[in-house]
Amino acid sequence: MNEQKSKFEEETKDPLKDGQTYFGKFRLLMWKNIILRKRHWLLSFLEIGIPTGLMCLILFLRIIPGSKLLPQEVTTNSIFRVGTEIDLRKQLCETSGGKWNWNSMGKCNYRYNSNNSELGDRILFWGPPTPFTKNMINIIQKEIFFEDENLQNVSSIEEMDDYVDASYIKASNSISAYYIGIFFNLEDLETEEPPVQLDYDLRRQKFWFTGYIYPFLEVPGPRNYTTSVSGGEAASYNMDGFSIIQTIIDRAYMQLLNGTEDNEETFR
Ligand SMILES: *[C@@H]1O[C@H](CO)[C@@H](O)[C@H](O)[C@H]1NC(C)=O
Ligand SMILES: *[C@@H]1O[C@H](CO)[C@@H](O)[C@H](O)[C@H]1NC(C)=O
Ligand SMILES: *[C@@H]1O[C@H](CO)[C@@H](O)[C@H](O)[C@H]1NC(C)=O
Ligand SMILES: *[C@@H]1O[C@H](CO)[C@@H](O)[C@H](O)[C@H]1NC(C)=O
Repeated sequence: MNEQKSKFEEETKDPLKDGQTYFGKFRLLMWKNIILRKRHWLLSFLEIGIPTGLMCLILFLRIIPGSKLLPQEVTTNSIFRVGTEIDLRKQLCETSGGKWNWNSMGKCNYRYNSNNSELGDRILFWGPPTPFTKNMINIIQKEIFFEDENLQNVSSIEEMDDYVDASYIKASNSISAYYIGIFFNLEDLETEEPPVQLDYDLRRQKFWFTGYIYPFLEVPGPRNYTTSVSGGEAASYNMDGFSIIQTIIDRAYMQLLNGTEDNEETFR
């Protein structure tokens, strides 16, 4: 005990000599800090070691090869085939049992069997039946070449989901049924006026592994629109109707908005 004290006193003598200048005071302070750190060396070690260790662990997890935490689509090559609207329309036509006709400005001809019934069952379920949704569906129907007999109205989302889900037992002539469900969430069911905010649910009967398509820790940037990830979910999600139907719905809505008196006034 005594020895330690004398050693401490010895050390204190030196720095105290120039303790009157600013720099001297600062040096004194630092020296005191070092002494304190030395005394609680374990605490000091942990204070520096724990954050550094955690950072290293995170870094290590991100850089080990094959790690699940790696960004999956690193944009090393950002020149991808562009998915055009015509591509999407052609894809929708073909997956719904039609034949794409490039000649007549991209028209979809549905094929018939000897019974004069369509190959593959196509239905667009829509709801709720209001004047506004009726107008929307009439525009959408023309864009995707669905006839009146391919439409069926529903009164609730649950009803629509049941119908769309049932499509997998409806395959005919090895062409699977092509069911779409569009349900508009509206407050006013009487008016023809487009709502201020468009809110709708869109359904297709397939399922997609969106975890693969839009991975965790995604690097933002261009992606391969036609890439098949794990059996083609990404390609079909992009190409199989979802994107184009969303585009057509948005466009139909804008067309209806454009036509209303109110908006003509606000545009002016
Ligand atoms: C023609 O229609 C009948 C009755 O709808 C059906 O039983 C038959 O299988 C159909 N034939 C073909 C070739 O699809
Ligand atoms: C909804 O469907 C029923 C029968 O399925 C039909 O009678 C009715 O006219 C349809 N409503 C609209 C707005 O199309
Ligand atoms: C994009 O995906 C398609 C289909 O998987 C593939 O053929 C093509 O090479 C890919 N393009 C690039 C630039 O990776
Ligand atoms: C909106 O209406 C104007 C005039 O009627 C028309 O020229 C224009 O193409 C319309 N725009 C859309 C997006 O429908």
